[in-house]
Amino acid sequence: MRKALYAGSFDPITCGHLDIIQRASKMYDEVTVGIIINPSKAALFDVEERTSMIKCVTSKLDNIKIDSFTGLLAKYVNNNKFDVVIRGLRAITDFEYEIQMAQMNARLYNKGTETVFLMTQPKYSFISSSMIKEVVMLGGEVDGLVHEEIYKLTKKKFNVK
Ligand code: COA
Repeated sequence: MRKALYAGSFDPITCGHLDIIQRASKMYDEVTVGIIINPSKAALFDVEERTSMIKCVTSKLDNIKIDSFTGLLAKYVNNNKFDVVIRGLRAITDFEYEIQMAQMNARLYNKGTETVFLMTQPKYSFISSSMIKEVVMLGGEVDGLVHEEIYKLTKKKFNVK
């Protein structure tokens, strides 16, 4: 069985993330969406909220697992014996950071785990969770960039009608 990990903050999950998850789910037997609990990044949604949001938007996919972890990604990968770590590339600007991270992680993985990059669809290449939060907080609309339910929950957090 080929097990993949797609890790991130997912605060909140966007259609760009979901697109990567859907494509990865066709490529691997099991895809774990790993929510990082990162003390240096202030989160809008707690881990339970992020987990239920991911569950909601991936409910039609039958090979998705949702988990959370803290600390070094490579430790989590080694402990769970993932074959592959999926990363989405949005633009050339992501590349430099991603290659550094992939090469450092390659040293830290016990054996054989590969980093696989999927190109983000152009229609999602400009979005990030922070940008979605900022636009929603200021009353802008983000139709088609986040799932309708996520949009509703984000508006609720910011008390936006
Ligand atoms: N569509 C839309 N948005 C996307 C996206 C896509 N396909 N891919 C990434 N993004 C957004 C994310 O929402 C995130 O937005 P934000 O910064 O506003 O929250 C931003 O792009 C950056 O994404 P990413 O690089 O995946 O950051 P992250 O915080 O979600 O996750 C980890 C980064 C978890 C992979 C990384 O920090 C990590 O490995 N941490 C563990 C510590 C560690 O091992 N360090 C050593 C590394 S060598």
